[in-house]
Amino acid sequence: MDLPRKLSELVGADAVLTAPADLAPYLTDHRRLYQGAAAAIVLPRSTEQVARVVAFCNQVRIPVVPQGGNTGYVGGATPMDSTAIVLAMGHMNRIRAVDAANFALIAEAGCTLAAVQDAAMEADRLFPLRLGSEGSCQIGGNLATNAGGTAVLRYGMMRELTFGLEAVLADGSVISSLSPLAKDNTGYDLTRLLIGSEGTLGVITAACLKLFPRPRATATAWVAISSPSAAIELLARLRAASNERLTTLELVPQVALQLVVQHIAAARDPGLAASPWYLLIELTSGHTEDLDSLLTQLLASASEQGLVTDAAIASNAAQRENFWRLRESVPEAQRKAGGSLKHDISVPVASLPRFIEAGSQLVARIAPEGFLVAYGHAGDGNLHFNVNQRAGTDLTAFAAREAPLKRAVHDLVAQYGGSFSAEHGIGRLKVDELRRYAQPPELAAMHRIKQALDPHGIMNPGKVL
Ligand code: FAD
Ligand code: MLT
Ligand code: ZN
Repeated sequence: MDLPRKLSELVGADAVLTAPADLAPYLTDHRRLYQGAAAAIVLPRSTEQVARVVAFCNQVRIPVVPQGGNTGYVGGATPMDSTAIVLAMGHMNRIRAVDAANFALIAEAGCTLAAVQDAAMEADRLFPLRLGSEGSCQIGGNLATNAGGTAVLRYGMMRELTFGLEAVLADGSVISSLSPLAKDNTGYDLTRLLIGSEGTLGVITAACLKLFPRPRATATAWVAISSPSAAIELLARLRAASNERLTTLELVPQVALQLVVQHIAAARDPGLAASPWYLLIELTSGHTEDLDSLLTQLLASASEQGLVTDAAIASNAAQRENFWRLRESVPEAQRKAGGSLKHDISVPVASLPRFIEAGSQLVARIAPEGFLVAYGHAGDGNLHFNVNQRAGTDLTAFAAREAPLKRAVHDLVAQYGGSFSAEHGIGRLKVDELRRYAQPPELAAMHRIKQALDPHGIMNPGKVL
């Protein structure tokens, strides 16, 4: 079969790429863990085009790999089969509607997260998902991975931020649920099934997203604490005392701060007393109110009780930006510092300090060539429990620690009733982990759902299951 010709008939010749140089950027993942292969890249402009292409692929059994901004961490968007096509969604990038009265916005899957945030802001509303990759990741990818980020504490993950979806299923049929309904109990919740399905059940083409009042006041602090226990105690107090205003509580160890200051040109050390741990804390409010005073007061009383050892509250936009940069640049600084072993784990929030203590001992014992850089969304019990290579150690020896360390860390997570994939998904990287840690009836149900919705297994094969 002349596949390029057939695809061109379906979407137009300018929307089909087949030259090796054009394919290359779509065939590897952000972390460069996988080098894939594909027969063609298809750049659809409409839901109808996606439906036509998927129906055709289903008929002739061609694998379809949806791809958004290709910023995912688990190889989910990388095609692994030279007969596959990649559906690159970036040309479906219209904001179809902004409905300020209903606190809703309809965006096509290929809109970048930043474009959605901007569109909400223009309507005096907030779309609260916030990720370090927001300039390049796409709403379709955010939905397909149920992305989390740094405002989950207050607003939740993508599942909680979505009214409904439009999607093309594996047989080419289109389901559409784009009304901003706060309540809708009509049958199974297909929206929340497709969110987090990582392209294995269908192609998300658009979504009706939830908006919130735009913040009128923000207070941001960089806070020194002596231990993760202090972070969790402070979290409980701030939640109780600031009501809904606590939006972000992110943990950054001293070693991560040092990496950022060393490797990220624009980052400035806030100059607090040296401390093993820091927190980025942000309060926001939909009212005009003095949050700086509230946060100062809360941190002062936490300091009297020995929970906080030093703190700085941003007094202008540049300082606020710098505090955020210190947190959001940790992954980039880690990458610049050399090889790293990543674990995206979560445990019940109150168990986090004990988990960090036990996990640190595992790292010291199993990967002596490395040092722990455990940072991230402490307010959600979610840490990026990463390990970087020590300067001067042997890379091969360090890399050999990956498998035993992963097993030990994930076993520990299981003991704590936690998750080995808190927000990055399963993709290709964690298929074996899902097999190992999922309850057998749960895994069997997932396989039956996959079989029912995609009987020929064309949607993103080899991922998740
Ligand atoms: P891609 O990488 O293109 O795809 C991801 C998965 O979704 C693949 O399985 C793909 O097949 C599927 N997919 C993509 N589009 C569609 C579609 N339209 N329909 C169906 N399936 C689709 N993630 C977090 O959760 N929290 C963070 O804090 C966070 N921070 C990050 C910081 C940096 C610097 C980077 C590089 C990444 C970060 N990520 C984070 C990971 C990543 O950015 C998110 O997972 C993001 O949601 C992926 O979006 P994407 O458009 O790049 O998806
Ligand atoms: C983050 O929270 O910074 C990311 O999810 C983790 C990462 O980029 O490694
Ligand atoms: Zn994260």
